[in-house]
Amino acid sequence: MHLRIALLGYGNVGRALIALLAEKADVLRDRHNLTLGVTGIMTRSAGGWLAPNGKGISPADVLASGWPERDIPVGGESFSGGSIGFVGLAPCDALVELTTLDARTGQPALEHVRRALSAGRSVVTANKGPIAHAYRDLRALAEERGGALRFESTVMDGTPIFNMAAASLPATTIASFRGTLNSTSNYVLSRMARGETLEEAVSGAQRLGIAEANPANDLEGWDAAVKATVLANVLLDANLRPADVLREGLGAEAMRQAQAALLPGQTLKQVAEAERSGDAVTARVRLEALAPGDLLAHLSGMEAGLTLRTDTMGDLTIIEGEGGPGQTAHGVMADLVAIAVTLAGR
Ligand SMILES: NC(=O)c1ccc[n+]([C@@H]2O[C@H](COP(=O)([O-])OP(=O)(O)OC[C@H]3O[C@@H](n4cnc5c(N)ncnc54)[C@H](OP(=O)(O)O)[C@@H]3O)[C@@H](O)[C@H]2O)c1
Repeated sequence: MHLRIALLGYGNVGRALIALLAEKADVLRDRHNLTLGVTGIMTRSAGGWLAPNGKGISPADVLASGWPERDIPVGGESFSGGSIGFVGLAPCDALVELTTLDARTGQPALEHVRRALSAGRSVVTANKGPIAHAYRDLRALAEERGGALRFESTVMDGTPIFNMAAASLPATTIASFRGTLNSTSNYVLSRMARGETLEEAVSGAQRLGIAEANPANDLEGWDAAVKATVLANVLLDANLRPADVLREGLGAEAMRQAQAALLPGQTLKQVAEAERSGDAVTARVRLEALAPGDLLAHLSGMEAGLTLRTDTMGDLTIIEGEGGPGQTAHGVMADLVAIAVTLAGR
């Protein structure tokens, strides 16, 4: 099987993906009889290139080219249109959508995904926006046009959640979930528990590269709300948008006050949860003072955890060690392999 992929967005995750695909090329060929060719890459500021003929360029050759700091890879032709034009022209089996998240609208990633699926292509995305804002529509479009839509890396980097549930919980109903999903907040809270001020802890998170210059999205629960929306829409068959997620008692001042009010033995975490009751699904993000017996209380500031309440397996908990672009790229690669296996079986 040969899978042609085009990348929209070539930042931390896109670069990590090309490096991982180059590193794992032999394993993919030996274990899955799979080779990959890159038929184009585009970014907002660097422009892009297309390889319109043949199988595309190997990830190793893309990596070796040094693009976009150096010339486009041999066999590629410069592309100077917009991102929608790129989606229309890139001759791929799967579009890999790795552009920046817009939590409020999901755009323009949502439009990229919609166009690719409409054309019968498969899509892999690590961008939460399209799944948080239009999962049902996109799923229906994929089914109608015969493409696949996969998004393992949208929550907890590449940690298997959606693929695990699809492959290993075939007849399970998930009634609720509860987890610590935002690394910045939980890192900051863990440092505050050790006596640092919120400002010192935020600076530390920024030095580690896990917090944005403006960490408000994380501390005020928006990042966790988008992730909770994705989880609820996919695992609980909800139809929520990020604004539907209740965000209670969050932000810098609330974190200071809650930390000061903790009882001995308690641990403060930003917790995201959702539950189904009849036809309704409610989701919320809030600060919780966790008792010592709570599994989530034992996670370090860099770890994320998610417990699924199931009707078949009781509580299932998935814990991610340190995440980052490498793990996120792995989730994208796992999705690409799954798509190739499906296409090969047709
Ligand atoms: N980093 C992680 O570990 C991680 C984990 C889970 C999910 N994600 C998600 O994965 C996606 C990529 O993350 P990242 O860390 O790689 O982000 P990043 O380093 O900021 O890279 C984003 C890339 O998207 C490009 N881009 C943005 N808007 C575009 C547009 N309209 N058309 C074409 N290209 C566009 C940017 O181009 P320019 O640089 O030229 O502007 C850049 O190449 C995001 O949605 C993020 O939320 C990331």
